[in-house]
Amino acid sequence: MSPFTEPDFTRLRDALGPLRDRERLAERLLEASRKHSYDPDTELDWDAPFEPGKWYWPPELVSLYGTPLWSRMSEEQRIDLSRHEAASLASLGVWFEVILMQLLVRHVYDKPLTSHHVGYALTEIADECRHSMMFARLIRKSGTGEYPVPRVYHNLARVLKTVSTTPGSFAATLLGEEILDWMQRLTFPDERIQPLVRGVTRIHVVEEARHVRYAREELRRQMVTAPRWEREFTRLS
Ligand SMILES: [Fe+2]
Ligand SMILES: [Fe+2]
Repeated sequence: MSPFTEPDFTRLRDALGPLRDRERLAERLLEASRKHSYDPDTELDWDAPFEPGKWYWPPELVSLYGTPLWSRMSEEQRIDLSRHEAASLASLGVWFEVILMQLLVRHVYDKPLTSHHVGYALTEIADECRHSMMFARLIRKSGTGEYPVPRVYHNLARVLKTVSTTPGSFAATLLGEEILDWMQRLTFPDERIQPLVRGVTRIHVVEEARHVRYAREELRRQMVTAPRWEREFTRLS
């Protein structure tokens, strides 16, 4: 006679189902990463000078667009503002990605190292590493200097990335990545924009789509099993 009861099997099936889903998704994402990943250093022409008269960010997304001040600015001043705002967003991107890399490292620390789930997390860390170097190189080339976040946010994030619970981390990832992603999807196809900025945003959009998928599915799985306090806390954050 089997030492297991029917409820034992049900519990086992319920526990293994999400794990199988998780592995299947990670395997597909790994396969896509092998086919469509980019090395920005060789993929983009970093030596080409910026083209005069081209924008660094779509004007409609620049903070002053449509204001009375905007209407008094010359075209050159507007483009210059777009250059600074692109550098500011790229700085935000590096800050955000450095936080994310640490969250991902913490996420995999206790997980089976040969699983596809861990393999994809390591792939994503490698992607973010290249992205951050790419953003920094773009900022250096645009000559604006960097735009760090205010000190208080910088320090708040230091605490968050150290103590944040896992569903909270994935919720924050989605929030950050989806907002930036929306702007970049408007930027890379736009012919008014500097080719280098278009190239940077194109690479980022392609690789981020996988990150968003990974985070969304993981958040969904974790919310199902998270204790009530954690679900409430994640909603709040
Ligand atoms: Fe990224
Ligand atoms: Fe990402």
